[in-house]
Amino acid sequence: MSTTQNPPPPVEEPEEPTNRPPALHRATKWLERPYARRIILISGVYVIAILAVLWFAIWVLNSSGGPASGIMAEIATTMIWLTIVASPLMGFTVATLVYSLFGWGRVGGDEPPMQENPDIRTNATAVIAWITATSLLAGFLVVWGLVELAGITAGAYGTVPANKQQGFVAPINVNVTGQQWVWTFEYPDLGKIQSDVLVLPIDRPTYFNVTSNDVVHNFWAVELGIKIDANPGAITNTGVTPNKLGTFNIRCAELCGLHHAYMETKVQVVTQDEFDSWVREMGGGKTL
Ligand code: CUA
Repeated sequence: MSTTQNPPPPVEEPEEPTNRPPALHRATKWLERPYARRIILISGVYVIAILAVLWFAIWVLNSSGGPASGIMAEIATTMIWLTIVASPLMGFTVATLVYSLFGWGRVGGDEPPMQENPDIRTNATAVIAWITATSLLAGFLVVWGLVELAGITAGAYGTVPANKQQGFVAPINVNVTGQQWVWTFEYPDLGKIQSDVLVLPIDRPTYFNVTSNDVVHNFWAVELGIKIDANPGAITNTGVTPNKLGTFNIRCAELCGLHHAYMETKVQVVTQDEFDSWVREMGGGKTL
């Protein structure tokens, strides 16, 4: 036997045979590291916490009567979807921060930083995936936000002139005045009747002229989804069409002094017949 007939020494196998691209492989290996798993676990907990808060917010809204206008329903849907869509990235970002503070915070002194360490920063797959995911998400938020904002603005402020909108119904004008620490509502077209409770007929557009007698307040009809500053010496406008019968909340949403927290009243959404009788009881000049 000649030594020349010896088989060549076996080729050294790669440590982790794989047919995946190296960058993807490294990214996958990164996910197998204990600290990466802990970060993902913390992300999961955080996402669950965000969704629990979201559920609570929806519960609060519904327990006081829920959305009572198309505007509020759209706002609620937007809040729900944007929170759900944003929660994984937010969870991952916060988890990384928390882990960096409390997990890696202990590394230091004589201990050198971990050797096998995060090549994730220069990992093309991970970088591209992160940038793509966050860009798509941001683009989605911008588009959704602009579309919703345009719809709400048109609904609330009459970007499309009211008399050109489909199914035009003449709006009821209400003058809203804030002063420390009460709201007053006046119906200029109905014999200038005044009330400290807002009464509105259902499915009827309402147009608000909002002002203040003293400091800056903010007229917020919570379940109707409208909110606008009440400034002394100026009139701001907003509008809404209530679509649900019931009694809902009106609050002041601008810190305006000692009793700001108690500057609240109610809005009663009633049928047109009930509204007409209320106007007569209040001594209103005519009904709409
Ligand atoms: Cu008025 Cu706060």
